[in-house]
Amino acid sequence: MRLTDCHNIDDFRRLAKARLPWPVFDYIDGAADDEQTRIRNTAAYGDVDLVPDVLAGVAEIDTSCTIMGRRSALPLMLSPTALQRVFHWQGERAVARAAEKFGVWFGISSLATVSIEEIAALTKGPKLFQLYVHKDKGLNRSMIERCQAAKFDAIALTVDTIVSGKRERCLRSGFTSPPRFTPNSALSYAIKPRWALDYVLREKFSLPHLDGHVSEGTGKAVSIQEYFNTMLDQSMDWDTAASIRQEWGGTFCLKGVMSAADARRAVEIGADAIMISNHGGRQLDGSRAPFDQLAEIVDAVGGAIEIICDGGIRRGTHVLKALATGATAASGGRLYLYALAAAGQAGVERALTILSEEIVRAMKLMGVHSVGELNRERLRRR
Ligand code: FNR
Repeated sequence: MRLTDCHNIDDFRRLAKARLPWPVFDYIDGAADDEQTRIRNTAAYGDVDLVPDVLAGVAEIDTSCTIMGRRSALPLMLSPTALQRVFHWQGERAVARAAEKFGVWFGISSLATVSIEEIAALTKGPKLFQLYVHKDKGLNRSMIERCQAAKFDAIALTVDTIVSGKRERCLRSGFTSPPRFTPNSALSYAIKPRWALDYVLREKFSLPHLDGHVSEGTGKAVSIQEYFNTMLDQSMDWDTAASIRQEWGGTFCLKGVMSAADARRAVEIGADAIMISNHGGRQLDGSRAPFDQLAEIVDAVGGAIEIICDGGIRRGTHVLKALATGATAASGGRLYLYALAAAGQAGVERALTILSEEIVRAMKLMGVHSVGELNRERLRRR
């Protein structure tokens, strides 16, 4: 299978699976417990049908929208995800460049393998930094100050990882950062020589936002579970979120809000946006899908705050269903991570080409000229 054989996001998933050692693939693909929430996140879009209008004269249409004050060519964002240089040696650099080329938001994780400063230098596109609240307040402050100096457009504070979800595929494979070669996993790395060679030969990376707290610099391999459970501040509450918003002073998004009551509180603390998200099903298994919660949250706070629907998006039609329900935009992680793992920047660009073509095609078949025309009249629950 080659890149040109990829015609949808699931094809990229298959190619990534063929190219990655299984512990790495399972880190991207897997989720918490029985992975019911991961599966539901996408399945939720299948419970709602689109109702098209015809003869609408759709030769010219506009897919752009404004998200957190920046124009985006598509109503789709690339969610922040950790450790991208483990998946492909180009890592965040590839994703940031592809995002700039397609005029969409790029999210960089606290656990990125490329620094805030480097990303700021290589893209003028809209970009947000995803912040975890660490027990070490100096570390939080240093990340915020670095984002201020690098003129990031927004910070997204992730609030759904107070403890790590139980990611059983990672427990089985022993996946760590940097990858640890155990007798059990060594074979899986050895039979993917292309990944292994890239990993060994390319420039080594660290986790540059963690100031040597957890990185190759410490010489210690750390599992994501260990990082979440030991370094993050479990006493984080609404006052913490409000003070981080204050300290940052710029556009502020809360990532991981799932209830209407919390969405109201996000408005109260002055957040500019919320990402309705369950971390791609990697945290609380059994949590509702973002799309299933979207209407309720839009009805509670719509208009007072921007609402980004994150997770499960694999098709252009999923984006349209989220917008028609009332989201400002949709966002996703695996939709570009599979493509990154499959073929680096060329892969991410092909995935974005496919998704943007799907959005355009679906808008035309729906008889819609701009994303603002989508509303609940155009949807029916089965
Ligand atoms: C994530 N996600 C994530 N979120 C976050 O706030 N900080 C992070 O470091 C990461 N890292 C991460 C790694 C990987 C491999 C995945 C798949 C996801 C969650 C991410 O931002 C987003 O919420 C989900 O990916 C959305 O679900 P889909 O689009 O992957 O189905």
